[in-house]
Amino acid sequence: MNPQIATGINQQINQELTASYTYLGMTAYFEMESLTGFAHWCRLQHEEEQMHAKRLFDYLLDRGGKVELAAIPSPRCDYESPLAVFEASLEQEEQNTRSINDLYDLASSLNDQATVSHLQWFVDEQVEEESLVGEVVSLVKRAGSEVAALLYLNDKLGARTAEADEA
Ligand code: FEO
Repeated sequence: MNPQIATGINQQINQELTASYTYLGMTAYFEMESLTGFAHWCRLQHEEEQMHAKRLFDYLLDRGGKVELAAIPSPRCDYESPLAVFEASLEQEEQNTRSINDLYDLASSLNDQATVSHLQWFVDEQVEEESLVGEVVSLVKRAGSEVAALLYLNDKLGARTAEADEA
């Protein structure tokens, strides 16, 4: 495997684990605010990001690439509001999309078809992730300062299942 690709995949593994850790911090915030439905939603995101990291980790190993695991920054566990959490989440997803696209472009430019094929799943996944988080941001914005609306959303997001998202 081209060392540049291996480096890029290692960086992406770090990015996914950083995202996972950020979602764990968000889970902590919501749990501490007794918004357990939002916490549940963030916990599932945390688990999904770990799964993304492991997918890349296994791929790197399958291709005989050198695994190099870098440190993961400490995440925030406090936010000003639920909206601030979901806006940070959307920003993180957008950043992740850019990072996946850069890696995809690198693999294409180096004619590494196997990596391009592997990354296609991530490209598609990011479309879903951004759409999912974008929808939550807009619903939380619409709820504004209405407590009843926010609690309704808390219940709604609390009903999320991992299976539905993996389909
Ligand atoms: Fe692994 Fe949220 O992208």
